[in-house]
Amino acid sequence: MAAPENPFANGPIQEQDPISATPQVTGELLAIDEALAARPAANAADLKAVAAREGGLDVAVVGATGAVGRQMVECLAERDFPLRRLRLLGSDRTDGDVFDWQGNASLPAGPITFHKGTHEALEGVDLILGAAANDIAIELYPRAVEAGAVVVDNSSAFRLLPHVPLVVPEVNAADAFAHHGIVANPNCATIICLVPVWPLAQRAGLTSMVVSTYQAASGAGRRGMEDLVAEEAALALGEPLPAPGTFPYQLALNLIPQIGGFDGRGYTSEEMKLQNEGRKIMHLPELRVGCTCVRVPVMRSHAESVTLRLERPLSPAEAREILASAPGVKLVDEPAAEPPARRYPMPIDTSDQDLVAVGRIREDLAAEDPSKGLCLWCSGDQIRKGAASNTVQIAELLVR
Ligand SMILES: NC(=O)c1ccc[n+]([C@@H]2O[C@H](COP(=O)([O-])OP(=O)(O)OC[C@H]3O[C@@H](n4cnc5c(N)ncnc54)[C@H](OP(=O)(O)O)[C@@H]3O)[C@@H](O)[C@H]2O)c1
Repeated sequence: MAAPENPFANGPIQEQDPISATPQVTGELLAIDEALAARPAANAADLKAVAAREGGLDVAVVGATGAVGRQMVECLAERDFPLRRLRLLGSDRTDGDVFDWQGNASLPAGPITFHKGTHEALEGVDLILGAAANDIAIELYPRAVEAGAVVVDNSSAFRLLPHVPLVVPEVNAADAFAHHGIVANPNCATIICLVPVWPLAQRAGLTSMVVSTYQAASGAGRRGMEDLVAEEAALALGEPLPAPGTFPYQLALNLIPQIGGFDGRGYTSEEMKLQNEGRKIMHLPELRVGCTCVRVPVMRSHAESVTLRLERPLSPAEAREILASAPGVKLVDEPAAEPPARRYPMPIDTSDQDLVAVGRIREDLAAEDPSKGLCLWCSGDQIRKGAASNTVQIAELLVR
């Protein structure tokens, strides 16, 4: 059996920097970035041309048996992604298992065998959609890029490399076209936050954010979901709880204010992603984000409390008007109505779909100038929009 991933490990580029600085890229990752820089900036027409010439792309999903990878495969089917061949790669654990591909407009239905993710398994592939851990990404993708593949990766390994665009299509789609072989998919809580925040930032300027996240168990992958189900089952049956596995403490009936490893200032790696990745995606290098990430006993869909400090006044009514037509956003903000018409975003309603719901929009009474402070609450399916759908959307930008 594969060794369990350590969900509390810091990513390899989470250095102990001053809070205002962006982490330095060092060591193996610096070498990867230098190799990417030496490659010509990609011509997105290349993937388009291959798809047109060959009747679709040869696509590999790495981590296809995990929470994100399985959803990616569903997205490829749902969105009729142009496929000539689909390779599904996992670990030794699932090598040889068979997946029942239901088919889409370009690739007919039929069984697809899972294979172990190796360099050989990626030979000749056009596009890799990465849904595996950082060490696998670092091991497999640079060589595949050298051989001509384009990678859209979900791990955090490459996100802050200077020659890797970090893309949320609703925010910075144009960045994707400057890739040198790898495009990174941002952290899930960062995507869910930025989809509604970006249109407000464009209108009123954004100087800082205070964010508290309420992150679902499935954010820790397949094992996170299994552990929560096992704990809830034990509680329901009055049996002893299983020992903590994926999470450091019991999650059922509890909240855990730790996601990722702690740095010297008391922030976790997950919390720093909101600032580091937010700066890169929105092109706001001075943005300051104070974040607290909390794991909650919800199966799917992260929720976030977000307080914005703006450069210019923006009323809640104006914010609602902007968000009502913002791409990727669903305005759900009817707090004054009587139930069941009273509506605000909740994970149970935002799971298994791609929009980020936003509501509870109000002035921030703690702001020195409340006209320049806004509070909001958002919720979105982090396996879909926070990972799989966002990845497939990026791939579509390059192909269509
Ligand atoms: N879960 C989320 O909400 C979320 C959101 C955004 C980003 N991400 C990121 O997406 C990635 C996948 O996360 P997940 O939640 O889907 O994790 P997961 O459910 O634990 O799945 C991990 C996947 O990696 C595969 N794997 C392990 N060793 C491999 C190898 N040597 N070669 C190829 N594949 C291998 C596993 O295969 P087996 O099943 O065969 O062991 C499985 O398919 C991670 O980098 C994570 O940080 C996750």
